Amino acid sequence: MSLRYLDKVVIVTGGSKGIGRGIVRVFVENGAKVVFCARGASAGEALEAELNSKGRVSCKFMSCDVSKEEDIKRLVAFTVETYGYIDCLVNNAGWHPPHKPTDVTTAEEFRDLLNLNLISYFLAAKYALPYLRQRQGNIINVSSLVGTIGQKDAAPYVATKGAIISMTKAMAVDESRFNVRVNCISPGNILTPLWEDLAAQTPDAAAAIKEGENSQLLGRMGTEEESGLAALYLAADATFCTGIDLLLSGGAELNYGFKSQIPP
Ligand SMILES: NC(=O)c1ccc[n+]([C@@H]2O[C@H](COP(=O)([O-])OP(=O)(O)OC[C@H]3O[C@@H](n4cnc5c(N)ncnc54)[C@H](O)[C@@H]3O)[C@@H](O)[C@H]2O)c1
Repeated sequence: MSLRYLDKVVIVTGGSKGIGRGIVRVFVENGAKVVFCARGASAGEALEAELNSKGRVSCKFMSCDVSKEEDIKRLVAFTVETYGYIDCLVNNAGWHPPHKPTDVTTAEEFRDLLNLNLISYFLAAKYALPYLRQRQGNIINVSSLVGTIGQKDAAPYVATKGAIISMTKAMAVDESRFNVRVNCISPGNILTPLWEDLAAQTPDAAAAIKEGENSQLLGRMGTEEESGLAALYLAADATFCTGIDLLLSGGAELNYGFKSQIPP
């Protein structure tokens, strides 16, 4: 099979687990050179060793906290020092806090989440754009389906994800003059460590996962690999798409469901 992103240089934030790991794997398998980061080190180092044992050295892991501006600067500088240029930035690192209603959520919790889920995407774009413009590259922002359809007891998370979709469109407008494309992916339910952590906080984790699977028309959750393939499509094939929001949702947003929470 031909390599669809040969020798392109890609940054993936939050690449040690879950959706980010799927994206790192698919880009490496398609010939890209990938720098990926996560906050801890062990899972990222293990993935780096595994992928580089398959032949050429094709990825580098760096420990980096995207909620810190200095760490984002280091990530971009390290990528350029290592590989010389940047073709694609995938903003993926983010967190979904445990569900709770607005009246018991603090402003500080909301501000911290904005910093992690939204400002980090803005800053990574800010520092990578001078290099992306040189290569007519592209940015892929991982948002969420709930940024469009809402979600129970998750107003701050939903707000950060909705803002990512809006910011993607605004940056697509601005960067078009440099031929840099900016798109986003809105996953529905993808089975990742984050999803499993949230399920584990419910009274019956197995039932929560079953409910998660049944939320899609396709009757299952999406996979890490399918997330990677969606990102590769935007980077490598979707050369006439900018400012779009690619729904990776198995049809979760379609059809009526049993949604009313009003007591009988
Ligand atoms: N899993 C889903 O169903 C789903 C659905 C919609 C959107 N998303 C979004 O996809 C993205 C990835 O989610 P996931 O389910 O793979 O999560 P995950 O928790 O399984 O993996 C998250 C990754 O991000 C890294 N990370 C977290 N905080 C970081 C920080 N401060 N600095 C650097 N790295 C950090 C983690 O180390 C890990 O590698 C998130 O933005 C999430 O909101 C996930």
